[in-house]
Amino acid sequence: MADLKAFEEELKKKNFRGYWQATQGDRSREPVATFEPYLWKGKDLYEAIDRAGTEVGLETSFRRVIQMKHPSLPGGTTHTLTLNLQMLKPGEHAAAHRHMAGAIRFITKGRGARLIVEGESFEIGEGDFATTPNWTWHDHVNESGETLMWLDVLDAPLVRLLQVDFHEPYKQDHQPVTRAEGTSFSELSPIRPSWVRQDSIQPPPFVYRWEETEKVLKTVGERPGDPYDGIFLRYANPLTGGPTLPTFNCAIQMLRPGEKTLSHRHTSSALYHVFRGKGSTTIGETRFDWEEGDSFVAPLWQYHRHENTHGQPAILFVMNDQPLMEALGFYREEGQK
Ligand SMILES: [Fe+2]
Ligand SMILES: [Fe+2]
Repeated sequence: MADLKAFEEELKKKNFRGYWQATQGDRSREPVATFEPYLWKGKDLYEAIDRAGTEVGLETSFRRVIQMKHPSLPGGTTHTLTLNLQMLKPGEHAAAHRHMAGAIRFITKGRGARLIVEGESFEIGEGDFATTPNWTWHDHVNESGETLMWLDVLDAPLVRLLQVDFHEPYKQDHQPVTRAEGTSFSELSPIRPSWVRQDSIQPPPFVYRWEETEKVLKTVGERPGDPYDGIFLRYANPLTGGPTLPTFNCAIQMLRPGEKTLSHRHTSSALYHVFRGKGSTTIGETRFDWEEGDSFVAPLWQYHRHENTHGQPAILFVMNDQPLMEALGFYREEGQK
């Protein structure tokens, strides 16, 4: 034994390590997340952003954003995704840039600001969902009289883990609008020009209107739905029908009055933001009773189920890293017996 200790010291001096010195991979039978279920109250989040609205200008902060930082992680909301709330006040213009992290916006309050993405201007309002795929120029302009707030979700923790965080400011504060309004809606409709590129892994930037989401909810809202998720509408890549972005999916989930889902678990982690209504979610041993404005995280490989015991439908905005896990061959899912 004394010899082994001396041997290990020798190894250490030369930056080697014996396999017997570390926890051995084949002892752990299942994934164990390093972060637990967690819930951020909407009341606290909106109070924080309101305060940032009076104390933090865009000259101090490139974007006025409050991040939901998981207390058990060095940064981010899960190990792959970060969930933020951004505020843009009337008259403000958040400068243009682009970065390796892919991003989305889900507008929770206000109407009439514009996202400029790759030279096209999109008006946005409550319930709209917009993508800013990786390396696309984007800036935000609010010439409406209302303050807008939206969720920003980025795959930044993954980009940092892989150490590929390219980032570039635009040469001026603002990018010029070079594409007529509505170009994307025309080019990406079922009647599609032949020259629109179909071969990129990154989807084109796109805005999904709340009116359209509501129509689909109404059309399919009486069906049995998914046993684990109820009515679950994924925002598909408008070109391919594939994941929202290559690294993560976004979706609208509706739990109808009285609905209780079955319990399942998967190797993707999920983030939820309560857009409308109330309900509860049990993740492992933890039960969260949630209401409008709350956000919570379900870490990978923990059984979870949802219920809505209230009289109104509950609508959740959901984000998960399932596409990433599937692309790498790491995705597994199972229902609780
Ligand atoms: Fe950005
Ligand atoms: Fe799930």
